[in-house]
Amino acid sequence: LDNGLMRMPPMGWLAWERFRCDIDCKNDSKNCISENLFKDMADRLSEDGWRELGYIYVNIDDCWSSMQRDSQGRLQADPDRFPGGIQNLARYMHDRGLKLGIYGDLGTHTCGGYPGTTLDKIETDAKTFAEWGVDMLKLDGCYSNATEQEKGYPLMSQALNATGRPIGYSCSWPAYQGGLPPSINYTVLGQICNLWRNYGDIQDSWDSVLNIVDWFMTNQDVLQPAAGPGRWNDPDMLIIGNFGLSVDQSRSQMALWAIMAAPLFMSTDLRTLSSEARAILQNKAVISINQDPLGIQGRRLLKEKSGIEVFWRPLLQSASALVFFSRRTDMPYRYTTTLASLNYTAGTYKVYDVFSGQVMKNLSDTTAFTVSINPSGVVMWYIITSLPERGGGEFFFGK
Ligand code: DGJ
Repeated sequence: LDNGLMRMPPMGWLAWERFRCDIDCKNDSKNCISENLFKDMADRLSEDGWRELGYIYVNIDDCWSSMQRDSQGRLQADPDRFPGGIQNLARYMHDRGLKLGIYGDLGTHTCGGYPGTTLDKIETDAKTFAEWGVDMLKLDGCYSNATEQEKGYPLMSQALNATGRPIGYSCSWPAYQGGLPPSINYTVLGQICNLWRNYGDIQDSWDSVLNIVDWFMTNQDVLQPAAGPGRWNDPDMLIIGNFGLSVDQSRSQMALWAIMAAPLFMSTDLRTLSSEARAILQNKAVISINQDPLGIQGRRLLKEKSGIEVFWRPLLQSASALVFFSRRTDMPYRYTTTLASLNYTAGTYKVYDVFSGQVMKNLSDTTAFTVSINPSGVVMWYIITSLPERGGGEFFFGK
């Protein structure tokens, strides 16, 4: 969507995967969906170095609203859990250089059973969100049919635009229609949404991450060309820092999301994050690959019988990223190849290993090299040419 927003994949925090629809503030006050949770996360984002890295959205998901609309038919926040209201919460974010995202559902109810946005309520809700100072809307698709979605998703895009407030727009439409043509037209989607959920919900497990990666890579010929500045495929939240992934698997999720030019919405408890998880999520090289201004989504190049897969993403100034990913379950695998066999043109390259921080200076396209890839892990390379006139010389991420 060409609304000037999200020219690079949006980054921030989103409540759903980690905090779900926990509304039990009496017994679980630290974790329930309430304004305090979002303020806590905002404090962490602004005080622990996240904001400077680009993690600026604090996004509410389902279960924030009251069960009833107000007397004028407008959505309202649950008065007990959000006593200050959404407008004040938005101000809290803005005061800290952050942005607030909210959640709605095109349909009679949200997936969690809260009031939905039926077609006749689209304009009202867009206006309400704009008046509150909201910066992003995720529009879910429970309890609506294909026809209503076909009308409603574009209508909300127009309604948000008509408010005059810049509001990033995340559409769950494809996830409700199988994610593939002919049910979903990715050209249209790119014109009305800044990002879209193509596929099912991520859960806190490696199986879930693999399932998502498999679907996105199997369908990369359809999905990859759909992405670009202002319009992104969304394979769903980062679950790094939770309970389901090992350190290697966490690096794999981060690396593959960067290759996919995916939105980086962490759904984890930033108050109790381990230092390993933090280091992965705050890795400047992988963030700069994700945020590359060309906005070209990467692809899987190779699927070896050994269980090794190679992914590639072109970056600004002839730079590129490679990911060597292992699906093996035995031991670190020594994979040998050359850049030439990964389609690199003749020349000499400089390689930065994203997770080890090591630099390799003069790697010619024809020189064989070996990477050691841990089971369910990755080796990720940021590659520049050694020629200064082609943008070589120094690694410039992290600026
Ligand atoms: C389905 C969406 O795909 C999830 O991300 C989350 O928003 C839930 N609905 C909330 O009910």
